[in-house]
Amino acid sequence: MKVIVGITGATGTVYGYRLLQRLNERGIETSIIISEYAARILQMEDSKSVEDLEGFGEVYRSSDLMAPTASGSCRFDAMVIAPCTMKTLAEIANGLSSNLISRTADVALKERRRLILVTRETPLSRVHIKNMLKVTSAGAVVLPASPGFYHKPKTIGDLVDYVVGKVLDQLGIEHELFRRWGEEEYDVTGRSSSSAQ
Ligand SMILES: Cc1cc2nc3c(=O)[nH]c(=O)nc-3n(C[C@H](O)[C@H](O)[C@H](O)COP(=O)(O)O)c2cc1C
Repeated sequence: MKVIVGITGATGTVYGYRLLQRLNERGIETSIIISEYAARILQMEDSKSVEDLEGFGEVYRSSDLMAPTASGSCRFDAMVIAPCTMKTLAEIANGLSSNLISRTADVALKERRRLILVTRETPLSRVHIKNMLKVTSAGAVVLPASPGFYHKPKTIGDLVDYVVGKVLDQLGIEHELFRRWGEEEYDVTGRSSSSAQ
């Protein structure tokens, strides 16, 4: 399986980085496409450079429309954009393909391959919601960066892993990044003394 990971300039570039780590741990082949603002935010929020992504696979800039994934003839099984800005969502929803990330997403849709958008924005405008409906109608999965809490996360890493685990679920990749509801002993009565105040 080969997965293209796009990273765009939303807060939460850690979602893309962590996803790459988890895919690589499982031996999944990945290529990375990063936008200009994603590179800046990755440095600012995670103290990581574009060079730090090179261990995960071939890295392309979103300005490079000559890269292999710009063509439907390029073999890959799925694309995940994590995090996905509202600008990139709008490009995909409207078929603009002005850079390598939105073009590769367009390829994924036209070739009927899996496309997962880990959107990051709040609150949402009517424009954002309409664009989410458009991409969903075209076959993409909108998977907001919106972690659950029933698995009792202790660290920011646990919260990030919850979202990454939901992406792996969509890709059909086994993982144990969070405890699933109903799998183990949860207090379904709601009487747990350790629940948040
Ligand atoms: C610090 C910072 C945080 C941002 N966070 C978000 C965000 O969470 N969601 C979003 O849609 N745009 C966010 N933006 C705006 C995008 O970076 C901007 O729209 C940019 O044009 C996106 O381009 P790209 O999708 O090609 O990376 C943020 C910008 C900055 C500087």
